Amino acid sequence: MKAQNVCTDTRLDTPYLLFLLDTGAVTSPFDVCLALSAGFRAVIPYGGVTPLNVQRIVMDSMLLRGPEAVKHTCFFIGGVALCEAEEVLKVVKDSLFPSFEASIVIDPAGAFTTTAAAVAKIEEALASFRLHGLSSLETKQCAILGTGVVGRIAAVLLSRLGCDVTIASLDPKRDHGEKYAIGVAEFLDNRYGVVVKSVFAPTTKKRLEVMKSAQVIFCAAARGVRIIEKDLLKRLKPSKIIADINATPPLGIECVRLEDDMREIMPGILGIGALTIDKLKNKVAKRMLEEARVNAKGVYNYDSALMLARKILRKKIRPNDALASATPKQTLCRP
Ligand SMILES: NC(=O)c1ccc[n+]([C@@H]2O[C@H](COP(=O)([O-])OP(=O)(O)OC[C@H]3O[C@@H](n4cnc5c(N)ncnc54)[C@H](OP(=O)(O)O)[C@@H]3O)[C@@H](O)[C@H]2O)c1
Repeated sequence: MKAQNVCTDTRLDTPYLLFLLDTGAVTSPFDVCLALSAGFRAVIPYGGVTPLNVQRIVMDSMLLRGPEAVKHTCFFIGGVALCEAEEVLKVVKDSLFPSFEASIVIDPAGAFTTTAAAVAKIEEALASFRLHGLSSLETKQCAILGTGVVGRIAAVLLSRLGCDVTIASLDPKRDHGEKYAIGVAEFLDNRYGVVVKSVFAPTTKKRLEVMKSAQVIFCAAARGVRIIEKDLLKRLKPSKIIADINATPPLGIECVRLEDDMREIMPGILGIGALTIDKLKNKVAKRMLEEARVNAKGVYNYDSALMLARKILRKKIRPNDALASATPKQTLCRP
């Protein structure tokens, strides 16, 4: 760490504060612990946050403290619901104005950082898979198995990276699955401007159809739900990357182990397991909060998380670098 880049924040009236805005009834202890580990002096959690009540929280958190202290303020939008979190984000952004700017992080259920970590790992796997004619995500066919927040944000990121994406709804108990799948594609188009194909794939036969032409398969099904059995994997042709994000047994894909990191699970098929993605996700989530704390403005979302995940994988950010070791009292300032 270079001495000239370090300043000491000893002003007790301007501590680094993080206001945790959770759209769920109860705030997540995971988010609280994460924010403390990223150097915030205090984390103030609010549950049941909505677009209707968030403006008051934002305004009241800033007015007494004044513009200088507001620079040490971050709003973290959590919860589990994607649309609610994004609606809250809009109101928080609109509530800030010049001289009263603060950083905003949005990561409902950790899904943005998780998805970004998965996409960065898949990119890395493709690059190391060059001999099989893969090498980059552009123009690759991607099958995303799962339509929750992780599946939807994966569809957004992978489409924007040039992939031909098919997203699959999976739950055999779902009524009107075809109609629901069409709705998912419409949602992604209307809200994020990405065009994807969508299918209802509640059976092995349907899932095989989705997977056989894909070079990249991303399993984002609910925790503890097995989606792909070994027999199905055996019927796939080589030159594929297959990643699973479900860390709760039974895992989403038989044969892909939690700690797999580009292990060849079948001839020509590389597996990436949930813990491998999760380890990267945790680094990304902490670093994102550290940067939000220090930079004092801007919105940190899945795009920021993807950039950070790539930098961490390319070792452009190392675990022991200055930001990561900074404490509230000894914090890096921008030069
Ligand atoms: N490591 C982390 O920090 C982290 C963060 C967030 C999520 N995750 C993991 O990521 C995965 C996806 O999470 P999420 O919140 O996006 O989605 P989710 O709501 O947990 O799961 C949604 C998907 O699971 C399918 N599904 C639900 N029950 C099923 C059943 N009985 N049989 C077959 N399919 C079923 C749904 O089918 P339909 O499409 O028909 O609805 C949907 O596609 C989970 O495993 C979660 O634990 C990890």
